Amino acid sequence: MKRLPICLSACVNVGFARRIVFAAGAAALLAVSAAWAAPASAPIVLTGADRRPATSLDGDWASIVDPYFSGLFSFHHQEKTNGWFLNQKAKPGDTFPIEYDFSKAPALKVPADWNTQRESLFYYEGPIWYERDFTYQPKEHTRTFLHVGAANYRSWFWVNGQKVCEHEGGYTSFNCDVTAAIHAGNNFVVAAVDNTRHEDNVPTLETDWWNYGGLTRSVSLIDVPEEFIDQYDVHLSRGEGSVIEGWVQVEGSQPGAKVEIEIPELGAKATAAVGGDGRAVIYLKATGLERWSPEAPKLYNVILRAGQDAVKEEIGFRTVETRGTEILLNGKPIFLRGISIHAEAPYRTGRANTDKDAETLLGWAKELGCNFVRLAHHPHDETMLRAADRMGLLVWSENPVYWALEFDNPKVLAKAEQQLDEEIGTSRNHASIILWSMANETPNNEARTQFIETLAARARSLDSTRLITAALLVRADGHTKIVDDALGKALDVIGVNEYIGWYEQHPETADSTEWRIDYQKPLIVSEFGGGAKAGLHGGENDRWTEEYQANIYRHQFGMLNRIPQLRGMSPWVLMDFRSPNRPLVGIQDEFNRKGLISDQGQRKQAFFILQKAYKEQTVGKPE
Ligand code: GCU
Repeated sequence: MKRLPICLSACVNVGFARRIVFAAGAAALLAVSAAWAAPASAPIVLTGADRRPATSLDGDWASIVDPYFSGLFSFHHQEKTNGWFLNQKAKPGDTFPIEYDFSKAPALKVPADWNTQRESLFYYEGPIWYERDFTYQPKEHTRTFLHVGAANYRSWFWVNGQKVCEHEGGYTSFNCDVTAAIHAGNNFVVAAVDNTRHEDNVPTLETDWWNYGGLTRSVSLIDVPEEFIDQYDVHLSRGEGSVIEGWVQVEGSQPGAKVEIEIPELGAKATAAVGGDGRAVIYLKATGLERWSPEAPKLYNVILRAGQDAVKEEIGFRTVETRGTEILLNGKPIFLRGISIHAEAPYRTGRANTDKDAETLLGWAKELGCNFVRLAHHPHDETMLRAADRMGLLVWSENPVYWALEFDNPKVLAKAEQQLDEEIGTSRNHASIILWSMANETPNNEARTQFIETLAARARSLDSTRLITAALLVRADGHTKIVDDALGKALDVIGVNEYIGWYEQHPETADSTEWRIDYQKPLIVSEFGGGAKAGLHGGENDRWTEEYQANIYRHQFGMLNRIPQLRGMSPWVLMDFRSPNRPLVGIQDEFNRKGLISDQGQRKQAFFILQKAYKEQTVGKPE
């Protein structure tokens, strides 16, 4: 916004008198919107926001496609004062043409990507404006936040013409304080969302998934008292059996203020005092606590209170750690029978974001015999994590540091750190999540290693109760796969991606492939697999047939069982998903076809091969 004064002067210089006249009128607005500056304090996270009473803004929003972003930037690419965020209506005698009208604009559904809503937007990458009217009754001593589940990729928000926030990153939630902008009665919110890919984005230009744009997750208004619970971390202590510990971050409180935690089912209750940093450290004895596990995904109602505020959560309590090359869940070695999943909606395709999407995808994983899912390559919707908690599936959650970011660009590091903060801040109380993945298939060089070591250290400082991993590329020497990427030092669990039989040699090559792993740490084969068009049949050496894909799986199991520290696997991938890199007509048709199930729910032969291996536990061992 600081460019605006330049705008004014520039306009004058080029003698656009009429513009100035209007600009003068807009000055008041300039003052208002110029007033907006990114809040200096840490962003509000509102952990468990989906569990708070809220006014949903989901549904139809008016939308205007703006490929040149002329709703926000002038012809000299300066940010406008009279942009479309003002939602102006033309009036007789206007001295300036209003060249947009949300009330006549076609609707786009929220939450949803725009690409699968309108044929003309299928390939669209660029800015689109959203507008929605709503009525509201602000309450005394209350702050109101616009909670956005996710907006891909960059987004700007205004309420009643007043800028309230902007955000970068398409897969994590954020909150905009609209207390000062909102008023009793009729209000309107305008958002500009731009999914244009840029080199210095996170993720960067290349991804093997569709760049679904828009307000892809729910949007709502949340009221909280002036003193409110922003973030909390409630977990089972690794050290002491049935001790629950953690902290509660209270906004707007005085040091010494009381915070209470209660687990009614266990008759457990404790209070703690807020410190100078707004944080209260909690310690609660929970006798008779039943631990959460895939076999018994026990969730407890947990109530947190501070001042007039209260949050009701459902939390499972479990511990996860490593011991040498073992992964211990609740102190016992475990083998992670997994599958990788993209946030592609089954059947309708597009960005997955409903309870139904989550139950279908995770239901298929359970049907496979999984106790683990790798949610690729970015944080998934809260609906997915809540379903994993309920259904008893362990989760690998990933920050979208994917392929070749600008690892030597400090701005890019800051963006990755911000997204990591948002991911962990909002999802830290999910028992299902056991692994924070820092990255996928990044180039093995010094700048990359330093970048991700920094992220890993940050993740540990934010959450010491989970394991840090990443999906590494592996090099080969003849028939030996070698895992010696320097990044392995910074990880608790090593993830490796390999495509023997698809991008490398033949399915049977796995039979003679050995692995040299230079780390005495648990290893997860986070990707392997091959493409198959559901219903296409032929010989086991005929690519794209179900027989070929099944053959890859059969040969993988023998090799995997020869890796002594293999403690998990998440083959690529549960369901076919849209990708702009897959144009093969009649086979891929812009889908990555490595799914074990097609996007229309057809189970391929390899689905049953893996299901059998998981049910009979013939692949992998916990210790
Ligand atoms: C990579 C990558 C995936 C991609 C897959 C594939 O390993 O991590 O995002 O979809 O390979 O090529 O199918």
